[in-house]
Amino acid sequence: MKRYAIVLAAGKGTRMHSDRPKVLHALLGKPMLAYVLTALSTLPWDDVFLVVGHGREAVQAAFADAGTFIVQDPQRGTGDAVRLALEAAPELEATFLVIYGDAPLIRAETVERLIRTHEAAGADATALTATVDDPRGFGRVVRDAEGRFLRIVEEKDADSAERLIREINVGLYAFYGPHLAEALGAIRADNAQGEYYLTDVLHHLLAAGRRVATARLDDPEEAAGINDRLQLAAAEQTLRRRILTAHMRQGVTIEDPASTWIGPDVMIERDTVVRAGSRLFGETRIGRGCEIGPQADLADAIVGDGVHVWYAVARGVRIDDGATVGPFAHLRPGAAIGRGVRIGNFVEVKNSTIGEKAKVPHLSYVGDAIVGREVNVGCGTITVNYDGVKKHATIIGDGAFIGCNTNLVAPVTVGDGAYVAAGSTITDDVPGGALAVARARQVNKERYVERLMARFGRPSRDPDARPESGPKQDRRNGE
Ligand code: UD1
Ligand code: CA
Repeated sequence: MKRYAIVLAAGKGTRMHSDRPKVLHALLGKPMLAYVLTALSTLPWDDVFLVVGHGREAVQAAFADAGTFIVQDPQRGTGDAVRLALEAAPELEATFLVIYGDAPLIRAETVERLIRTHEAAGADATALTATVDDPRGFGRVVRDAEGRFLRIVEEKDADSAERLIREINVGLYAFYGPHLAEALGAIRADNAQGEYYLTDVLHHLLAAGRRVATARLDDPEEAAGINDRLQLAAAEQTLRRRILTAHMRQGVTIEDPASTWIGPDVMIERDTVVRAGSRLFGETRIGRGCEIGPQADLADAIVGDGVHVWYAVARGVRIDDGATVGPFAHLRPGAAIGRGVRIGNFVEVKNSTIGEKAKVPHLSYVGDAIVGREVNVGCGTITVNYDGVKKHATIIGDGAFIGCNTNLVAPVTVGDGAYVAAGSTITDDVPGGALAVARARQVNKERYVERLMARFGRPSRDPDARPESGPKQDRRNGE
Protein backbone atom coordinates (compact mmCIF):
# COMPACT_ATOMS: atom_id res chain seq x y z
CA MET A 1 0.00 0.00 0.00
CA LYS A 2 1.18 3.51 -0.75
CA ARG A 3 2.09 5.88 2.03
CA TYR A 4 1.57 9.59 2.26
CA ALA A 5 2.53 11.99 5.02
CA ILE A 6 0.53 15.11 5.84
CA VAL A 7 2.25 17.84 7.81
CA LEU A 8 -0.03 20.50 9.30
CA ALA A 9 1.63 23.89 9.34
CA ALA A 10 -1.08 26.39 8.45
CA GLY A 11 -2.05 27.63 11.91
CA LYS A 12 -1.44 31.15 13.03
CA GLY A 13 0.46 30.30 16.17
CA THR A 14 -1.41 33.05 18.00
CA ARG A 15 0.16 32.17 21.33
CA MET A 16 3.67 32.86 19.99
CA HIS A 17 2.80 36.58 19.59
CA SER A 18 5.05 36.71 16.58
CA ASP A 19 5.22 38.11 13.07
CA ARG A 20 6.97 34.92 12.05
CA PRO A 21 4.97 31.75 11.30
CA LYS A 22 5.21 29.41 14.26
CA VAL A 23 6.84 26.53 12.39
CA LEU A 24 9.74 28.78 11.38
CA HIS A 25 10.74 29.52 14.97
CA ALA A 26 14.08 27.84 15.57
CA LEU A 27 15.42 25.35 18.08
CA LEU A 28 19.22 25.16 18.17
CA GLY A 29 19.43 27.25 15.04
CA LYS A 30 17.01 25.17 12.95
CA PRO A 31 13.33 25.85 12.30
CA MET A 32 10.81 23.68 14.13
CA LEU A 33 9.42 22.32 10.89
CA ALA A 34 12.85 20.98 9.88
CA TYR A 35 12.79 18.61 12.87
CA VAL A 36 9.36 17.34 11.91
CA LEU A 37 10.54 16.65 8.38
CA THR A 38 13.63 14.88 9.77
CA ALA A 39 11.31 12.64 11.80
CA LEU A 40 9.72 11.60 8.48
CA SER A 41 13.00 11.14 6.68
CA THR A 42 13.76 7.52 7.52
CA LEU A 43 10.66 6.16 5.78
CA PRO A 44 9.97 6.34 2.07
CA TRP A 45 6.82 8.35 1.27
CA ASP A 46 4.99 8.47 -2.01
CA ASP A 47 4.51 12.14 -1.26
CA VAL A 48 4.64 14.56 1.65
CA PHE A 49 1.85 17.14 1.77
CA LEU A 50 2.55 20.31 3.68
CA VAL A 51 -0.57 22.22 4.58
CA VAL A 52 0.39 25.89 4.84
CA GLY A 53 -1.63 29.04 5.37
CA HIS A 54 -0.50 31.65 7.81
CA GLY A 55 2.80 33.09 6.53
CA ARG A 56 2.85 30.49 3.76
CA GLU A 57 5.25 32.42 1.48
CA ALA A 58 7.96 32.27 4.13
CA VAL A 59 7.30 28.62 4.95
CA GLN A 60 7.31 27.62 1.30
CA ALA A 61 10.49 29.57 0.63
CA ALA A 62 12.27 27.90 3.53
CA PHE A 63 11.13 24.34 2.64
CA ALA A 64 10.71 24.51 -1.13
CA ASP A 65 11.83 20.91 -1.74
CA ALA A 66 10.06 19.30 1.20
CA GLY A 67 7.03 18.09 -0.74
CA THR A 68 3.72 19.26 -2.17
CA PHE A 69 2.31 22.44 -0.66
CA ILE A 70 -1.40 22.78 -0.02
CA VAL A 71 -2.88 26.11 0.93
CA GLN A 72 -5.46 26.24 3.71
CA ASP A 73 -7.05 29.67 3.91
CA PRO A 74 -8.90 30.32 6.13
CA GLN A 75 -7.60 27.89 8.76
CA ARG A 76 -10.69 26.10 9.99
CA GLY A 77 -9.08 23.43 12.11
CA THR A 78 -6.87 20.35 11.89
CA GLY A 79 -9.68 18.27 10.40
CA ASP A 80 -10.22 20.80 7.63
CA ALA A 81 -6.47 20.88 6.92
CA VAL A 82 -6.30 17.08 6.54
CA ARG A 83 -9.38 17.09 4.28
CA LEU A 84 -7.64 19.52 1.90
CA ALA A 85 -4.56 17.30 1.79
CA LEU A 86 -6.68 14.22 1.01
CA GLU A 87 -8.34 16.06 -1.84
CA ALA A 88 -4.91 16.74 -3.30
CA ALA A 89 -3.71 13.14 -2.94
CA PRO A 90 -3.68 11.19 -6.22
CA GLU A 91 -5.49 8.29 -4.55
CA LEU A 92 -7.13 7.48 -1.21
CA GLU A 93 -6.20 3.81 -1.16
CA ALA A 94 -3.13 4.38 0.99
CA THR A 95 -1.84 4.87 4.53
CA PHE A 96 -1.89 8.54 5.56
CA LEU A 97 0.33 9.68 8.39
CA VAL A 98 -0.65 12.98 9.98
CA ILE A 99 1.90 14.92 11.98
CA TYR A 100 1.72 18.48 13.35
CA GLY A 101 4.36 21.01 12.35
CA ASP A 102 4.71 22.18 15.94
CA ALA A 103 5.96 18.82 17.29
CA PRO A 104 9.74 18.94 16.85
CA LEU A 105 10.59 16.33 19.49
CA ILE A 106 8.95 13.36 17.78
CA ARG A 107 11.62 10.85 16.86
CA ALA A 108 11.92 9.14 13.50
CA GLU A 109 11.69 5.75 15.28
CA THR A 110 8.36 6.80 16.74
CA VAL A 111 6.95 7.62 13.31
CA GLU A 112 8.19 4.31 11.97
CA ARG A 113 6.80 2.37 14.92
CA LEU A 114 3.38 4.00 14.56
CA ILE A 115 3.18 3.18 10.86
CA ARG A 116 4.23 -0.43 11.43
CA THR A 117 1.81 -0.94 14.35
CA HIS A 118 -1.00 0.55 12.30
CA GLU A 119 -0.31 -1.49 9.19
CA ALA A 120 0.33 -4.72 11.10
CA ALA A 121 -3.00 -4.35 12.93
CA GLY A 122 -4.84 -3.47 9.73
CA ALA A 123 -6.41 -0.59 11.64
CA ASP A 124 -8.41 2.26 10.14
CA ALA A 125 -6.86 4.72 12.54
CA THR A 126 -4.01 4.54 15.01
CA ALA A 127 -3.46 7.48 17.32
CA LEU A 128 -0.38 8.01 19.46
CA THR A 129 -0.97 8.84 23.11
CA ALA A 130 1.26 9.60 26.08
CA THR A 131 0.81 9.76 29.82
CA VAL A 132 2.22 13.00 31.13
CA ASP A 133 2.45 14.71 34.50
CA ASP A 134 1.04 17.97 33.23
CA PRO A 135 -1.64 17.43 30.58
CA ARG A 136 -2.56 21.11 30.26
CA GLY A 137 -3.07 22.28 26.69
CA PHE A 138 -3.46 18.79 25.23
CA GLY A 139 -6.49 16.88 24.06
CA ARG A 140 -7.35 14.17 26.62
CA VAL A 141 -7.88 10.51 25.78
CA VAL A 142 -11.23 9.28 27.10
CA ARG A 143 -11.56 5.52 27.68
CA ASP A 144 -14.35 3.35 28.99
CA ALA A 145 -14.26 1.34 32.22
CA GLU A 146 -12.45 -1.49 30.42
CA GLY A 147 -9.85 0.94 29.14
CA ARG A 148 -11.12 0.87 25.58
CA PHE A 149 -10.60 4.03 23.59
CA LEU A 150 -13.71 6.16 23.23
CA ARG A 151 -12.68 9.59 21.98
CA ILE A 152 -10.40 12.55 22.36
CA VAL A 153 -11.74 15.65 24.00
CA GLU A 154 -9.99 18.98 23.53
CA GLU A 155 -9.13 20.81 26.72
CA LYS A 156 -11.44 23.68 25.91
CA ASP A 157 -14.36 21.27 25.51
CA ALA A 158 -13.49 19.01 28.45
CA ASP A 159 -15.42 18.91 31.70
CA SER A 160 -13.60 19.03 35.02
CA ALA A 161 -13.38 15.22 35.31
CA GLU A 162 -11.97 14.89 31.80
CA ARG A 163 -9.38 17.55 32.54
CA LEU A 164 -7.93 15.31 35.23
CA ILE A 165 -7.06 12.66 32.64
CA ARG A 166 -3.31 12.45 32.18
CA GLU A 167 -3.34 10.42 28.99
CA ILE A 168 -3.08 12.91 26.17
CA ASN A 169 -3.30 13.01 22.39
CA VAL A 170 0.22 13.47 20.99
CA GLY A 171 -0.98 14.53 17.56
CA LEU A 172 0.55 11.76 15.46
CA TYR A 173 -1.81 9.43 13.63
CA ALA A 174 -1.94 6.86 10.86
CA PHE A 175 -5.13 6.38 8.85
CA TYR A 176 -6.48 4.18 6.13
CA GLY A 177 -7.34 6.75 3.45
CA PRO A 178 -10.86 5.83 2.29
CA HIS A 179 -12.26 5.59 5.83
CA LEU A 180 -10.48 8.75 6.91
CA ALA A 181 -12.13 10.63 4.06
CA GLU A 182 -15.51 9.23 5.07
CA ALA A 183 -15.09 10.30 8.70
CA LEU A 184 -13.83 13.77 7.75
CA GLY A 185 -17.13 14.24 5.98
CA ALA A 186 -18.94 13.59 9.25
CA ILE A 187 -17.18 15.97 11.63
CA ARG A 188 -18.76 19.28 12.64
CA ALA A 189 -17.31 22.52 13.96
CA ASP A 190 -19.75 22.55 16.88
CA ASN A 191 -17.17 22.97 19.64
CA ALA A 192 -15.59 25.61 21.85
CA GLN A 193 -13.22 26.79 19.12
CA GLY A 194 -15.65 26.56 16.20
CA GLU A 195 -13.11 24.41 14.34
CA TYR A 196 -13.11 21.12 12.50
CA TYR A 197 -11.10 18.92 14.84
CA LEU A 198 -9.16 16.05 13.33
CA THR A 199 -9.51 14.37 16.71
CA ASP A 200 -13.26 13.99 16.18
CA VAL A 201 -12.55 11.66 13.28
CA LEU A 202 -11.60 8.89 15.72
CA HIS A 203 -14.95 8.99 17.44
CA HIS A 204 -16.77 8.91 14.09
CA LEU A 205 -14.71 5.98 12.89
CA LEU A 206 -15.61 4.01 16.03
CA ALA A 207 -19.28 4.87 15.63
CA ALA A 208 -19.10 3.59 12.04
CA GLY A 209 -17.68 0.30 13.31
CA ARG A 210 -14.12 0.92 12.09
CA ARG A 211 -11.00 -0.26 13.89
CA VAL A 212 -9.38 2.48 15.95
CA ALA A 213 -6.16 1.64 17.74
CA THR A 214 -3.89 3.60 20.02
CA ALA A 215 -0.17 3.31 20.58
CA ARG A 216 1.65 4.77 23.53
CA LEU A 217 4.82 6.83 23.57
CA ASP A 218 7.68 5.36 25.60
CA ASP A 219 9.20 8.78 26.20
CA PRO A 220 6.46 11.31 26.93
CA GLU A 221 8.93 14.15 26.32
CA GLU A 222 8.39 13.56 22.62
CA ALA A 223 4.78 14.68 22.93
CA ALA A 224 5.68 18.36 23.38
CA GLY A 225 3.70 20.59 21.05
CA ILE A 226 5.01 24.13 20.77
CA ASN A 227 2.26 26.68 21.23
CA ASP A 228 4.14 29.49 22.97
CA ARG A 229 7.67 30.67 23.61
CA LEU A 230 7.92 28.99 26.98
CA GLN A 231 7.25 25.64 25.34
CA LEU A 232 9.72 26.59 22.62
CA ALA A 233 12.46 27.15 25.19
CA ALA A 234 11.57 23.98 27.08
CA ALA A 235 11.62 21.87 23.91
CA GLU A 236 14.95 23.38 22.94
CA GLN A 237 16.38 22.28 26.29
CA THR A 238 15.09 18.75 25.76
CA LEU A 239 16.66 18.65 22.34
CA ARG A 240 19.90 20.10 23.63
CA ARG A 241 20.14 17.46 26.35
CA ARG A 242 19.45 14.70 23.81
CA ILE A 243 22.23 15.92 21.53
CA LEU A 244 24.77 16.34 24.34
CA THR A 245 23.95 12.87 25.62
CA ALA A 246 24.49 11.36 22.18
CA HIS A 247 27.91 13.01 21.85
CA MET A 248 29.00 11.92 25.31
CA ARG A 249 27.87 8.36 24.55
CA GLN A 250 30.07 8.43 21.47
CA GLY A 251 33.24 9.48 23.23
CA VAL A 252 33.15 13.25 23.39
CA THR A 253 33.86 14.91 26.73
CA ILE A 254 31.48 17.75 27.48
CA GLU A 255 33.06 19.64 30.35
CA ASP A 256 29.95 21.57 31.34
CA PRO A 257 26.74 20.34 29.71
CA ALA A 258 24.79 23.16 31.35
CA SER A 259 26.59 25.83 29.34
CA THR A 260 27.22 23.95 26.10
CA TRP A 261 25.01 24.27 23.03
CA ILE A 262 25.42 21.89 20.11
CA GLY A 263 23.17 21.92 17.05
CA PRO A 264 21.52 18.82 15.60
CA ASP A 265 23.79 18.56 12.55
CA VAL A 266 27.13 18.95 14.31
CA MET A 267 29.52 15.97 14.16
CA ILE A 268 32.34 15.46 16.66
CA GLU A 269 34.84 12.61 16.71
CA ARG A 270 36.02 10.77 19.80
CA ASP A 271 38.35 12.11 22.46
CA THR A 272 37.54 15.69 21.68
CA VAL A 273 36.84 17.84 24.73
CA VAL A 274 34.25 20.58 24.49
CA ARG A 275 34.82 23.09 27.25
CA ALA A 276 32.39 25.32 29.08
CA GLY A 277 30.42 28.00 27.30
CA SER A 278 30.91 26.65 23.78
CA ARG A 279 28.29 26.90 21.05
CA LEU A 280 28.65 24.68 18.00
CA PHE A 281 26.08 25.11 15.26
CA GLY A 282 25.29 24.56 11.60
CA GLU A 283 27.21 22.00 9.59
CA THR A 284 30.15 21.97 11.96
CA ARG A 285 32.44 18.92 11.87
CA ILE A 286 35.13 18.43 14.48
CA GLY A 287 37.83 15.77 14.34
CA ARG A 288 39.52 13.69 17.01
CA GLY A 289 41.39 14.80 20.07
CA CYS A 290 40.51 18.47 19.78
CA GLU A 291 40.09 20.92 22.61
CA ILE A 292 37.20 23.20 21.78
CA GLY A 293 36.55 26.04 24.19
CA PRO A 294 36.13 27.46 26.70
CA GLN A 295 33.77 29.71 24.80
CA ALA A 296 34.28 28.58 21.26
CA ASP A 297 31.45 29.86 19.09
CA LEU A 298 31.57 27.89 15.85
CA ALA A 299 29.13 27.65 12.97
CA ASP A 300 29.71 25.75 9.76
CA ALA A 301 33.30 25.07 10.77
CA ILE A 302 35.24 22.09 9.42
CA VAL A 303 37.83 21.30 12.06
CA GLY A 304 40.56 18.64 11.73
CA ASP A 305 42.20 16.53 14.45
CA GLY A 306 44.09 17.85 17.46
CA VAL A 307 42.91 21.42 16.98
CA HIS A 308 42.69 23.84 19.89
CA VAL A 309 40.15 26.65 19.69
CA TRP A 310 39.42 28.80 22.71
CA TYR A 311 37.55 32.06 23.29
CA ALA A 312 36.98 32.41 19.58
CA VAL A 313 34.24 33.03 17.04
CA ALA A 314 34.39 31.19 13.70
CA ARG A 315 31.81 31.02 10.91
CA GLY A 316 32.14 29.26 7.58
CA VAL A 317 35.75 28.24 8.06
CA ARG A 318 38.18 25.33 7.80
CA ILE A 319 40.75 24.69 10.51
CA ASP A 320 43.23 21.91 9.75
CA ASP A 321 44.95 19.40 12.03
CA GLY A 322 47.00 20.71 14.90
CA ALA A 323 46.14 24.38 14.46
CA THR A 324 45.52 26.62 17.46
CA VAL A 325 43.07 29.49 17.39
CA GLY A 326 42.60 32.06 20.13
CA PRO A 327 42.16 33.30 22.67
CA PHE A 328 40.01 36.10 21.27
CA ALA A 329 40.22 35.37 17.57
CA HIS A 330 37.57 35.95 14.94
CA LEU A 331 37.55 33.70 11.87
CA ARG A 332 35.08 34.87 9.27
CA PRO A 333 33.69 33.08 6.20
CA GLY A 334 36.29 31.75 3.83
CA ALA A 335 39.09 31.53 6.37
CA ALA A 336 41.12 28.36 5.75
CA ILE A 337 43.61 27.77 8.52
CA GLY A 338 46.32 25.27 7.56
CA ARG A 339 47.90 22.48 9.57
CA GLY A 340 49.78 23.55 12.65
CA VAL A 341 48.98 27.22 12.12
CA ARG A 342 48.84 29.51 15.10
CA ILE A 343 46.19 32.21 15.16
CA GLY A 344 46.61 34.20 18.35
CA ASN A 345 44.85 36.87 20.31
CA PHE A 346 42.93 39.68 18.66
CA VAL A 347 43.40 38.33 15.17
CA GLU A 348 40.68 38.52 12.52
CA VAL A 349 40.92 36.38 9.39
CA LYS A 350 38.44 36.66 6.52
CA ASN A 351 38.40 34.92 3.14
CA SER A 352 42.04 33.97 3.42
CA THR A 353 44.17 30.87 3.26
CA ILE A 354 46.85 30.56 5.90
CA GLY A 355 49.55 28.06 4.90
CA GLU A 356 50.86 25.21 7.00
CA LYS A 357 52.68 26.22 10.20
CA ALA A 358 52.32 29.93 9.54
CA LYS A 359 51.90 32.19 12.57
CA VAL A 360 49.60 35.14 13.02
CA PRO A 361 50.05 35.44 16.76
CA HIS A 362 48.75 38.86 17.74
CA LEU A 363 46.63 41.85 16.77
CA SER A 364 46.27 41.38 13.02
CA TYR A 365 43.67 41.68 10.29
CA VAL A 366 44.14 39.26 7.40
CA GLY A 367 41.50 39.65 4.68
CA ASP A 368 41.43 38.40 1.08
CA ALA A 369 44.93 37.03 1.45
CA ILE A 370 46.89 33.94 0.56
CA VAL A 371 49.55 33.41 3.18
CA GLY A 372 52.20 30.78 2.40
CA ARG A 373 53.71 28.06 4.56
CA GLU A 374 55.71 28.99 7.64
CA VAL A 375 55.13 32.69 7.18
CA ASN A 376 55.53 34.82 10.28
CA VAL A 377 53.04 37.65 10.39
CA GLY A 378 54.27 40.10 13.01
CA CYS A 379 52.13 41.68 15.66
CA GLY A 380 49.79 44.38 14.40
CA THR A 381 50.08 43.52 10.71
CA ILE A 382 47.14 44.64 8.60
CA THR A 383 46.13 43.70 5.08
CA VAL A 384 44.74 46.91 3.64
CA ASN A 385 42.28 45.12 1.40
CA TYR A 386 39.59 47.72 0.80
CA ASP A 387 39.96 50.93 -1.16
CA GLY A 388 36.44 52.10 -0.42
CA VAL A 389 35.07 50.51 -3.59
CA LYS A 390 36.68 47.12 -4.14
CA LYS A 391 38.44 44.43 -2.13
CA HIS A 392 41.96 43.50 -3.22
CA ALA A 393 44.17 40.48 -2.63
CA THR A 394 47.40 40.16 -0.68
CA ILE A 395 49.75 37.29 -1.44
CA ILE A 396 52.57 36.37 0.93
CA GLY A 397 55.01 33.70 -0.25
CA ASP A 398 56.28 30.72 1.74
CA GLY A 399 58.63 31.49 4.59
CA ALA A 400 58.24 35.27 4.35
CA PHE A 401 58.74 37.34 7.51
CA ILE A 402 56.45 40.31 7.99
CA GLY A 403 57.71 42.69 10.66
CA CYS A 404 55.44 44.12 13.30
CA ASN A 405 52.93 46.81 12.49
CA THR A 406 53.14 46.42 8.73
CA ASN A 407 50.43 47.65 6.38
CA LEU A 408 50.17 45.56 3.24
CA VAL A 409 48.29 47.78 0.80
CA ALA A 410 46.56 45.38 -1.59
CA PRO A 411 46.80 44.35 -4.33
CA VAL A 412 50.31 43.41 -3.33
CA THR A 413 52.60 40.38 -3.33
CA VAL A 414 55.44 39.59 -0.97
CA GLY A 415 57.71 36.95 -2.51
CA ASP A 416 58.91 33.70 -0.92
CA GLY A 417 61.31 34.20 1.96
CA ALA A 418 61.18 38.02 1.75
CA TYR A 419 61.51 40.24 4.81
CA VAL A 420 59.42 43.29 5.51
CA ALA A 421 60.80 45.70 8.08
CA ALA A 422 58.64 46.54 11.08
CA GLY A 423 56.39 49.53 10.64
CA SER A 424 56.45 49.41 6.84
CA THR A 425 53.57 50.44 4.62
CA ILE A 426 54.05 48.16 1.62
CA THR A 427 52.47 49.45 -1.56
CA ASP A 428 54.71 47.72 -4.12
CA ASP A 429 55.43 44.03 -4.62
CA VAL A 430 58.42 42.70 -2.70
CA PRO A 431 60.63 40.25 -4.65
CA GLY A 432 61.39 36.87 -3.05
CA GLY A 433 64.34 37.00 -0.68
CA ALA A 434 64.41 40.82 -0.58
CA LEU A 435 64.10 43.13 2.42
CA ALA A 436 61.51 45.86 2.03
CA VAL A 437 61.74 48.90 4.29
CA ALA A 438 58.95 51.37 3.77
CA ARG A 439 58.93 53.86 6.59
CA ALA A 440 60.31 57.31 7.28
CA ARG A 441 63.93 57.32 8.43
CA GLN A 442 64.37 58.26 12.07
CA VAL A 443 65.69 61.73 12.90
CA ASN A 444 67.17 62.48 16.34
CA LYS A 445 67.35 66.12 17.32
CA GLU A 446 70.22 66.39 19.79
CA ARG A 447 69.67 68.40 23.01
CA TYR A 448 66.17 69.26 21.87
CA VAL A 449 64.64 69.04 25.34
CA GLU A 450 67.24 71.31 26.88
CA ARG A 451 66.55 74.00 24.28
CA LEU A 452 62.83 73.59 24.81
CA MET A 453 63.21 74.16 28.54
CA ALA A 454 65.36 77.21 27.97
CA ARG A 455 62.54 78.71 25.95
CA PHE A 456 59.53 77.74 28.05
CA GLY A 457 60.93 77.28 31.53
CA ARG A 458 61.57 74.24 33.73
CA PRO A 459 58.98 71.54 34.06
CA SER A 460 57.18 70.90 37.35
CA ARG A 461 59.00 68.84 40.06
CA ASP A 462 56.10 66.41 40.00
CA PRO A 463 57.73 63.29 38.52
CA ASP A 464 54.49 62.24 36.84
CA ALA A 465 54.30 65.50 34.90
CA ARG A 466 57.88 65.33 33.60
CA PRO A 467 58.46 64.44 30.00
CA GLU A 468 60.52 61.30 29.49
CA SER A 469 64.06 62.38 29.17
CA GLY A 470 67.38 61.27 27.86
CA PRO A 471 68.11 57.66 27.24
CA LYS A 472 65.05 56.67 25.22
CA GLN A 473 65.36 59.57 22.82
CA ASP A 474 69.06 59.03 22.41
CA ARG A 475 68.78 55.36 21.74
CA ARG A 476 69.58 54.50 18.14
CA ASN A 477 67.70 51.88 16.29
CA GLY A 478 69.39 49.58 13.86
CA GLU A 479 68.18 50.03 10.32
C1 UD1 B 1 -3.75 19.65 18.86
C2 UD1 B 1 -4.77 18.54 19.05
C3 UD1 B 1 -4.71 18.05 20.49
C4 UD1 B 1 -3.32 17.54 20.78
C5 UD1 B 1 -2.28 18.61 20.49
C6 UD1 B 1 -0.89 18.02 20.56
C7 UD1 B 1 -6.62 18.96 17.50
C8 UD1 B 1 -8.01 19.46 17.37
N1 UD1 B 1 -6.08 19.03 18.73
O1 UD1 B 1 -4.11 20.73 19.69
O2 UD1 B 1 -5.65 17.01 20.69
O3 UD1 B 1 -3.22 17.15 22.13
O4 UD1 B 1 -2.45 19.15 19.17
O5 UD1 B 1 0.08 19.01 20.50
O6 UD1 B 1 -6.06 18.50 16.53
N2 UD1 B 1 -3.18 23.63 11.93
C9 UD1 B 1 -3.44 23.78 10.58
N3 UD1 B 1 -4.65 24.27 10.20
C10 UD1 B 1 -5.62 24.61 11.09
C11 UD1 B 1 -5.34 24.46 12.46
C12 UD1 B 1 -4.12 23.96 12.85
O7 UD1 B 1 -2.60 23.50 9.74
O8 UD1 B 1 -6.68 25.04 10.64
C13 UD1 B 1 -1.87 23.12 12.35
C14 UD1 B 1 -1.13 24.08 13.23
O9 UD1 B 1 -0.30 24.91 12.44
C15 UD1 B 1 -0.31 23.16 14.14
C16 UD1 B 1 -1.14 21.89 14.18
O10 UD1 B 1 -2.05 21.97 13.12
O11 UD1 B 1 0.94 22.89 13.59
C17 UD1 B 1 -1.88 21.73 15.51
O12 UD1 B 1 -2.71 22.85 15.72
P1 UD1 B 1 -2.80 23.57 17.11
O13 UD1 B 1 -3.73 24.70 16.99
O14 UD1 B 1 -1.47 23.83 17.65
O15 UD1 B 1 -3.52 22.42 17.97
P2 UD1 B 1 -3.49 22.22 19.55
O16 UD1 B 1 -4.46 23.15 20.17
O17 UD1 B 1 -2.11 22.22 20.04
CA1 CA C 1 -0.12 22.65 19.10
